[in-house]
Amino acid sequence: MDMIQDETLSLEPLDEILESMPDAGDCELIPILQKIQESYGYLPPSVLKAMSDRTGIAASRIYGVATFYEQFYLEPHGRHTVRCCRGTACHVKGGRGIIKAIRRILDVEEGETTKDMLFTFETVACLGTCFLGPVMMVNNDYYGHLAPNKVKYILERYG
Ligand code: FES
Repeated sequence: MDMIQDETLSLEPLDEILESMPDAGDCELIPILQKIQESYGYLPPSVLKAMSDRTGIAASRIYGVATFYEQFYLEPHGRHTVRCCRGTACHVKGGRGIIKAIRRILDVEEGETTKDMLFTFETVACLGTCFLGPVMMVNNDYYGHLAPNKVKYILERYG
């Protein structure tokens, strides 16, 4: 998939979303943003501006919510999100090797998206499943007790 250029984005999907939510207002802000992200893959600035114009919701409020919640992305994001733990419990069990394997296999650094827009790679301080360490997540799936040589096979399932 080619990188989506913000200025060339159609506002048609936005209009369809807003038509399906005729009373869209401040209370529906999160569901609207979720639908926009589902349609566009992220929250493009030009679409958020148009949404502000059409709904009357202040742009500052929209950006406040969009930047507060981790689920929202303000830049193009891969179809799948790979999150690897860099916390201490995982680190002592070989977490650094997992991070290195992901970087090598996807050919990206932390915070980057693969050129084919398939994966975005992030590291987090703890995934809350230290007993599974070293652990990574792909979207909502946990993969624990990992070894570097397992990473490639797991990621291939999402190709
Ligand atoms: S330190 Fe890795 S899941 Fe908690």
